[in-house]
Amino acid sequence: MNFLEWNQSFSVGDPKLDDQHRRLFAYLNDLHAAWQDGQISDPQLEILDNLVIYTRYHCASEENCLKRIDYNLLAEHQQIHADLVARLLARQKAIATGRTADYLEFLTWFRTQIVDHLKHEDQKYISHLATHRVPELVSIP
Ligand SMILES: [Fe+2]
Ligand SMILES: [Fe+2]
Repeated sequence: MNFLEWNQSFSVGDPKLDDQHRRLFAYLNDLHAAWQDGQISDPQLEILDNLVIYTRYHCASEENCLKRIDYNLLAEHQQIHADLVARLLARQKAIATGRTADYLEFLTWFRTQIVDHLKHEDQKYISHLATHRVPELVSIP
């Protein structure tokens, strides 16, 4: 059983964005599995870095996609992403500098962030995406 399991209710109706969200789940699950196996000892933990890097990549990629379809709530969505990334970076730094080693608290916090964001914020662009999607959007990086 994964720490965060994908299901169709998370879909935003775009295969590429769904793939990115699934990869985000996978990074979180990898970190959880490493924590469960007791493999986390190095504060410079690569797996946590990868999660942060991929989160930032996804936010930028999603914003780029929404910009191309003139999403009316783009500025608000960008701000929510920026706030989330800032809080994520602060927590990453707290772990990297040894201020905390509470990985379970981090994992649980981030799982809640992902679920809330997908269910409340990303869901808001579904209808806009469905009616404004153009073929080349399928090839977002
Ligand atoms: Fe988003
Ligand atoms: Fe997203």
